[in-house]
Amino acid sequence: MKSVRTVQGLRAVLGGARRDDRAIGLVATMGALHEGHLSLIRHARRQCDVVVVSLFVNPAQFNERADLERYPRDELRDSELAEDAGADVLFAPSVAEVYPAGFATTVEVLGLSERLEGAARGAEHFRGVATIVTKLLCMALPDVAYFGQKDAQQVLLIRRLTTDLNLPVRIETRPTVREPDGLAMSSRNALLGAAERERALALPRALQAACELADSGERSTAALLAAARAEMERLSVSAEYLALVDPETLEPLERLDGEALLAVAARVGEVRLIDNTILTPDVGSAPDPQNQGKVLSTCSV
Ligand code: PAF
Repeated sequence: MKSVRTVQGLRAVLGGARRDDRAIGLVATMGALHEGHLSLIRHARRQCDVVVVSLFVNPAQFNERADLERYPRDELRDSELAEDAGADVLFAPSVAEVYPAGFATTVEVLGLSERLEGAARGAEHFRGVATIVTKLLCMALPDVAYFGQKDAQQVLLIRRLTTDLNLPVRIETRPTVREPDGLAMSSRNALLGAAERERALALPRALQAACELADSGERSTAALLAAARAEMERLSVSAEYLALVDPETLEPLERLDGEALLAVAARVGEVRLIDNTILTPDVGSAPDPQNQGKVLSTCSV
């Protein structure tokens, strides 16, 4: 695996592949790689000739300084994991390389950015995400870029911006990867103490409670959210938001009459976690192959 730190270096290592029309895949990360990232890299490996993993803790998308400062960083570990999973190129630029003096351009996806995570974290979060993802796509010019469904709103935004800006890339979303007990994999999980790790199960359990109720025929959003919230209260976790929304527009839904996104965010101690699932009321109870049917078995997580 080659490691490069500059855009020029990245273009140089990818030049041959581009000239030979070989498929380039990009997995954008902020490091602290876990099985969720590694499954994206392995999938990119299966589909593409050249796999680029970017590793950049993007200061522009952190709305809290403390969150940025405690974000886990271990480049050596990340580069070994990325290589083992099949990456050909690790692109790990400095902040000055990405945001040189005089940097003044941002990308903002109106509407979608203002809901859920945007409402909770402020406009700068998704402005930061949209700007860095646009830049990474322009730097690497991949044929395909891979993102996890755990950040469902982020994926919607990225799809929107690539369409709106006519970026020639296919965006592929992959299912959330979970721990055996259901907790969605996240770089922030490493920051949870033992007691908090237990309480963090409030999020997947809340989703599961709503799924089970939906399976029993309940269609009222209020009832589904109440069941989810009750599950969180058992572990003394309160939701920052818990919402059943249209999976494309993120508009709140009053009833579960078709496919819906159930999304939750909560702080467990100092650590802010998010999770979501898609409820598909008409498909019945198909076990989730990603999770061997162990968690959220009736949802298409
Ligand atoms: O999902 C993430 O890790 C980040 O938001 C991303 C897409 C790498 C942009 O910094």
